[in-house]
Amino acid sequence: MMKGAKANVLEAIGGTPIVKLNYVTKDIESEIYVKLEYMNPGGSTKDRIGSYMLDQAVKEGKLKPGGTIIEGTSGNTGVGLAMWAAIHGYKCIFVLADKQSKEKIDNLRAFGAKVVVCPTNVQPEDPRSYYSVSKRLSETIPNSFYVNQYDNLHNRDTHYTWTAPEMYEQTSGDFDVFMAGVGTGGTITGCGKYFKEKMPNVQIVGIDCVGSIIAHYAKTGEMCEAHSYVIEGIGEDFIPENYDFSVIDDFEVVGDKESFLMTRKLLKYEGIYAGGSAGAAIVGAINYAKKQKEPKKILVLLHDSGNRYASKIYNDDWMSDNGYLDSSFNVQIKDVLSDLGKNGSIITINDSATIGEAITIMEEKGMSQLPVVNKAGEVVGLCAEKNLVKPVVMGEFQKDDNISLAYTNKFRIVDRNELLETVADALLKKEVAIITKDGKLSDILTEIDILQYMSSKGSI
Ligand SMILES: Cc1ncc(COP(=O)(O)O)c(C=O)c1O
Repeated sequence: MMKGAKANVLEAIGGTPIVKLNYVTKDIESEIYVKLEYMNPGGSTKDRIGSYMLDQAVKEGKLKPGGTIIEGTSGNTGVGLAMWAAIHGYKCIFVLADKQSKEKIDNLRAFGAKVVVCPTNVQPEDPRSYYSVSKRLSETIPNSFYVNQYDNLHNRDTHYTWTAPEMYEQTSGDFDVFMAGVGTGGTITGCGKYFKEKMPNVQIVGIDCVGSIIAHYAKTGEMCEAHSYVIEGIGEDFIPENYDFSVIDDFEVVGDKESFLMTRKLLKYEGIYAGGSAGAAIVGAINYAKKQKEPKKILVLLHDSGNRYASKIYNDDWMSDNGYLDSSFNVQIKDVLSDLGKNGSIITINDSATIGEAITIMEEKGMSQLPVVNKAGEVVGLCAEKNLVKPVVMGEFQKDDNISLAYTNKFRIVDRNELLETVADALLKKEVAIITKDGKLSDILTEIDILQYMSSKGSI
């Protein structure tokens, strides 16, 4: 055996790094660190549960030589199980919902597994659901073992005995909050239980998606109707046995679009090639951080690799066809203002003022545009630095001249509830948008503001 080598690929599972996020967190004081579980050999944290659950099944005599492993899986657990089965020589049948990406299905078939695809939008108890089909197959195929990651408590034990101690050792417990997307509940419950035992003050926060019932059930104790969502891996329409809500302090609930856009941002700005549930987790972590009074160190587990989503989240056509690509102009002006930190503190000058007074205000306040208002408070013109300097230097205007000699009409007035697209053309033609709130002047927006906003959104 070569020195330093692993005996087989299963031994290469685990030991994934924790990395600080630097760009997507720039608007919050808290620090966010991510556990890159996509660096496992099968590309996700589910390598751990696949291997652990099957080791336990063999120990408990539930999986016997020559047996068939059956599982309902969104793909990642399938890969973890298939890797174990490849090494130990077992057959696999995987049952997937039809919303799962093609890469996941092809991947599992490449492992030699049989893949059965079921409709997504049916109730779990419907005979066509992937829960029902997996169960039925395991009842009819002799010498088969239905892994059932939802209710098999070795799922959460994997994270309690392996993933969480690994993170605790890596960080010496130097974090305030642990967050992870929730599906079967194995990750959040296993890690949450371990961290709570070691660190009594740690907060454990799950990230659920709009349409799922998990967060609602945890908060109210009541079941509600599930609605469809596109994100893969997180959210459920029932409560799997792996949940222990006593170790989960809180939940953040996030939507498909914001999750997908964040997933792309993680790659573009942090170089992190992760799946959609990672984007969801970071949206949730940022939202959680914004609610905290003190800055926190937040550790977030990112479940899987971006590889599995090359034809979806990382494909511009798919994103655009499904309405997930953000048009930078398709936002309300008030959101742009808030993103730019503009807070309604417009400064104006009276139409009776002099050019000298305008220059002084512009210098003192560091402004390059000044709306000129009449006695009634109406905007009559716009005094722009670039229109003042040259004529004053050339002696064309005197400082005591009235401001009316120097102002232009290159401005638009628009309410802050309007969409940015209503003034985008004007701004790009170097006009200035003067923004009103409840009929009163509030802010100005210039071409530079638009460029700054678009660049902050990753659009340029
Ligand atoms: C991509 C992805 N993210 C998150 C999760 C949720 O993890 P858990 O099932 O441990 O709650 C899963 C589980 O299937 C997943 O595949």
